Amino acid sequence: MRVSVVGSGYVGLVTGIGFVKLGNSVIFVDVDERKIQMINNAQPPIYEEGLEELMQEFRGKYYATNDYRDAILNSDITFIAVGTPSREDGSIDLTYVKEASRAIGKALREKEDYHVVVVKSTVLPGTTEEVVRPILEKYSGKKAIQDFGLAMNPEFLREGTALKDFLNPDRIVIGVQDERTKKVLEELYAPINAPKLIVDIKTAEMIKYASNAFLATKISFANEIGNICKKLGIDSWKVFEGVGLDHRISPYFFRTGIGWGGSCFPKDVRALIRKAEELGEDPIILKAVVEVNERQPLKLIELLKKHVPDLKGKTVGVLGLAFKPNTDDVRETRAYIIVRKLLEKGAHIIAYDPKAMENFKRFYPDVGEKIEYANSPEEVLEKSDVILIVTEWNEFEKVDYSGKIVIDGRRIRAAEKTARIYEGVCW
Ligand code: UDX
Repeated sequence: MRVSVVGSGYVGLVTGIGFVKLGNSVIFVDVDERKIQMINNAQPPIYEEGLEELMQEFRGKYYATNDYRDAILNSDITFIAVGTPSREDGSIDLTYVKEASRAIGKALREKEDYHVVVVKSTVLPGTTEEVVRPILEKYSGKKAIQDFGLAMNPEFLREGTALKDFLNPDRIVIGVQDERTKKVLEELYAPINAPKLIVDIKTAEMIKYASNAFLATKISFANEIGNICKKLGIDSWKVFEGVGLDHRISPYFFRTGIGWGGSCFPKDVRALIRKAEELGEDPIILKAVVEVNERQPLKLIELLKKHVPDLKGKTVGVLGLAFKPNTDDVRETRAYIIVRKLLEKGAHIIAYDPKAMENFKRFYPDVGEKIEYANSPEEVLEKSDVILIVTEWNEFEKVDYSGKIVIDGRRIRAAEKTARIYEGVCW
């Protein structure tokens, strides 16, 4: 099939290259010239495992452009995979979704063949039908369902394993209103062996929010129990191993620590809270999930103060700045909250991350420019009085922490063996 993907961020690019791998041709549409050039040179603008190799292997099967018309006229199906960031108040910002819909609508006006438009971006229930559809209809002069197909197909990709998740998903959720659109999406996803759940568009939108909210809840719940375990001298990781063996619960996503970050959980849980409130509901569980997560990184600082009561003039080594390992993404990283707090307390910071130092500096100039960056974890160890483990990169397990005080936010037990003092947040 000929696919076009609007927005070549994490989701758009991985999805598009995933479709290429499945035997389709793909046109990426983006407004960012730098990204377009990089993609056309088979260079991924982001770091994602396996992406560069696939981009090199399938060179010629895809290209990027800023021309919507070219992309729509030369494809059979278009995915909208632009960002849906949070506004100040937590509500969802649909600017990019609307812009993309307008441009796709204009291009659809000229299109003679049947075309399917699929919303891949995470949007609140009702958005595809009440926001995207009217814009597409207005600018194309055509009617959805009758003249062109409309669907919502959420992504469940984890950064770092996004390509694997695309090719081997737990499930594929397809929200559609009509048979014809359904057939096109079923054909596109036919090579993937996974349960395919066909639902209406609103339900597909909600499945995405409910999934992310549940996963965030699972971690906040684990962290709350973990904090109690800590006070009782119980290892929370053992507790959740035991809890997870109940097949109704599952052992995954139970790692206690300094909480969740990233581009999805914080934004999506906040947007769902706002939506619930708009509807006159008081989503007390979701609010508590966020609150536990806001407190959790500060637990690391509490522990640090137990061992180093006055941080003024002390050098604190921070290992890890990415919101999780195997990514250069720093969005909503716990590292930002921790570093900001430490600077407030007068500490000097030396940080190291294998992939995320540049992004940290760029994204958080208020703190990113006030800290020192090291070339290796060893340099951090050498120059600091105390070490904080903030992201569980593999390479931090191999470091010799001899003689150091290590406060571990992510439970890499390797440090325990050699550190002078080793203490973790939840265990
Ligand atoms: C998440 C969802 O998993 C994915 O399905 C969705 O499409 C996008 O959001 P991602 O943001 O890439 O993916 O990260 P994920 O691996 O889910 O981790 C999210 C955060 O939770 C990270 O900060 C991670 O450190 C934290 N986490 C995860 C825990 O603290 N404990 C766990 O057990 C698992």
